[in-house]
Amino acid sequence: MASLDQQDLPLVKALKNLAQRPDTPFYAPGHKRGQGIAPAFKQWLGPALFQADLPELPELDNLFAPSGAIAKAQELAADLWGAERTWFSVNGSTAGIVAAILATCGDGDKILLPRNVHQAAIAGIIHAGAVPIFLEPEINPDWDLALGIRPETLCQALQKHDDAKAVFLLHPTYHGVVGDLQKLVELSHGAKLPVIVDEAHGGHFPFHPLLPRPALELGADIVVQSTHKMLGALSQCAMVHSQGNLINPQRISQCLQLIQSTSPNYVLLASLDSARHQMANVGREMMAEVWEFTLHYRQKLEQIPGLNLLAVTQSGPGALALDPTRITIDVTQWGMSGFELDDCLREKFQITAELPTLRQLSFIVSIGNQAQDLARLLEALIRLAPTNFQQPFQLTLPALPSTILAMTPRRAAYAAQKLVPVNEAIGQISASLLCPYPPGIPVLIPGEIITPEAIAFLTKVLSLGGTISGLANEELTHLAVVN
Ligand SMILES: Cc1ncc(COP(=O)(O)O)c(C=O)c1O
Repeated sequence: MASLDQQDLPLVKALKNLAQRPDTPFYAPGHKRGQGIAPAFKQWLGPALFQADLPELPELDNLFAPSGAIAKAQELAADLWGAERTWFSVNGSTAGIVAAILATCGDGDKILLPRNVHQAAIAGIIHAGAVPIFLEPEINPDWDLALGIRPETLCQALQKHDDAKAVFLLHPTYHGVVGDLQKLVELSHGAKLPVIVDEAHGGHFPFHPLLPRPALELGADIVVQSTHKMLGALSQCAMVHSQGNLINPQRISQCLQLIQSTSPNYVLLASLDSARHQMANVGREMMAEVWEFTLHYRQKLEQIPGLNLLAVTQSGPGALALDPTRITIDVTQWGMSGFELDDCLREKFQITAELPTLRQLSFIVSIGNQAQDLARLLEALIRLAPTNFQQPFQLTLPALPSTILAMTPRRAAYAAQKLVPVNEAIGQISASLLCPYPPGIPVLIPGEIITPEAIAFLTKVLSLGGTISGLANEELTHLAVVN
């Protein structure tokens, strides 16, 4: 096969040509190349954006049956990331993950996955009617953070569930930690199971030699990346890559078609083409620069008294390495929670982090940042650091309660539901996914029995100032149960 020209920009070019060509539009979208957009909105964002908001015109190809500009753009992306096939998603990694699960698991099929998966994986399980077999991740007790899966944990599960249909893994975690994915893939392939990897936070891995190795290189069969999170694509833009003969690419195409819009936004799609072009042509230089200044400022952050910086100093099976561009700090010794520090940085310094939790605050550093951004963060933190430490912010979470699945998540999610007071919910089947932060691991998913331990855990997280996603209201007064 002739090598592909990574200088090419097929979708961007096609869209630009068409947007600049005069036309009398009798097609959707109804704003007709910006003519029907409210003037104030158009003035704010400029006319070019609306001229480029075009539908699936012949020159622009079709996302669900690509043979032109989209096909070419996806081929170039596959070539760059080292996949056999790549699909663009305009509904984030969320759609990619749901499609990957649908493509590998049918009704009643078992899928092995870590408990600390993103809710998109649970959504995929609900859509597919699959049965989740959870793998307990390693926990870093000092940080209350879930890490990767130990190979032994997967090995035992594979032996116990030799009828499973797929393995789903996270690489890296939200906090940038990677486990021994290569070993986990080998074990899964030994059992002839395809491995789906949620690499939502790892699209940049191929572009610096010292970053963790990318999931495709480590042998994963389907890899889903949020190009919008770490690289230069617009929000919602993601890629699904595949390789090997354990999965059927046709199924992935069909499943993406099941869950994505038939009117994909071409500005979003073109931004994926543009992000690929950027990484192919200047990505390594950009990442080298990000690497240099991030390491420089990580060293400086480490010197701030009372500030702890998440690092993988001793690699172990659940945590082989950390992506240093994900900065997570803990200032509990300053007597401050992650939420308080987040508010303070925003209000006093106009610095906004990615993810606050009770104990930590995480920052994404990417090709969009410059050294001066980290200099500003460093200066703010130096100014905030107390000279005398106060009472450390106390936080002790109990061990996560064990769970029992009484019916498939799909049956529970689609069943008639009712809201009951929390004390009456005990012993009933949860209809919702309840995920406390910290530790960001679901305590209950649809179909699991609500236990006193689960309620006690959720109550404790709230009492410490944490949050719970999936509650019917902000307090833990009522829970949705299967009727
Ligand atoms: C680990 C992980 N997986 C998947 C997703 C979903 O990605 P997207 O926002 O691209 O749909 C997220 C989003 O935060 C995530 O953190």
